[in-house]
Amino acid sequence: MPSFAEVKAGLAMPLSDAMETQRSIRRLRSDPVDDETVRACLELAIKAPTGGNLQNWEFVVVRDPDVKHQLARLNRQAWSVMRRIYRTQVRNDEKGLRGLAAGQWLADHFEETPVVVVACLRGPRAWFPPVVVTSYYGSIFPAVQNLLLAARALGLGAALTTLPVWSSWMARRTLGLPWNVSPIAAVPLGWPQGRYGPTIRRPVDEVTHLDRYGKPFGG
Ligand SMILES: Cc1cc2nc3c(=O)[nH]c(=O)nc-3n(C[C@H](O)[C@H](O)[C@H](O)COP(=O)(O)O)c2cc1C
Repeated sequence: MPSFAEVKAGLAMPLSDAMETQRSIRRLRSDPVDDETVRACLELAIKAPTGGNLQNWEFVVVRDPDVKHQLARLNRQAWSVMRRIYRTQVRNDEKGLRGLAAGQWLADHFEETPVVVVACLRGPRAWFPPVVVTSYYGSIFPAVQNLLLAARALGLGAALTTLPVWSSWMARRTLGLPWNVSPIAAVPLGWPQGRYGPTIRRPVDEVTHLDRYGKPFGG
């Protein structure tokens, strides 16, 4: 199990390399991850912006087997529904099927994850109008992405997940969160069984428009 001192040089990795190779790593080894390493990820996570600079994030670092077991149960409940939907979507797509297998692996091994970081938001949950809702959720995902990039640079495996907190009520009870703190995402962290590698995404020109929707951005 590498210590923080052994992996911290990874944080000097070029940003574009980290971004190009950060992908969901769900197959994790059960070897422990020290607090210093988790703290380094969180220090970088909270460099992210929040709406109105409220910094209304809260993080729960879960190591307790009972708490992990409860989150694993929630993940399995949601996964048993979502995997059926994903299966119809991916059909014969090889990459999609690999993702499905990785999701199943996480569902089967969630309890073995050494650390799960649950990212939460403090304050009343936003329902309406849309700009309030987007600002609310938009105040946690930049921090989660920073955390994922920090994990990647340190060589830690990580994935952004929401299924383990599909029921705010049950996740709040599991984590002992006060009523005004909502769990939004969970990031299982651990040393990866596999490797990071380049992500495959749709081309920029396919998803970008110039001035108005439909006018090509590229050339
Ligand atoms: C909002 C959001 C929620 C997600 N929830 C889950 C989840 O609950 N479980 C999971 O295994 N992956 C989850 N993912 C990860 C995506 O499935 C993954 O990022 C996507 O398939 C692309 O794969 P890659 O990250 O390996 O490139 C989520 C991603 C996002 C952005």
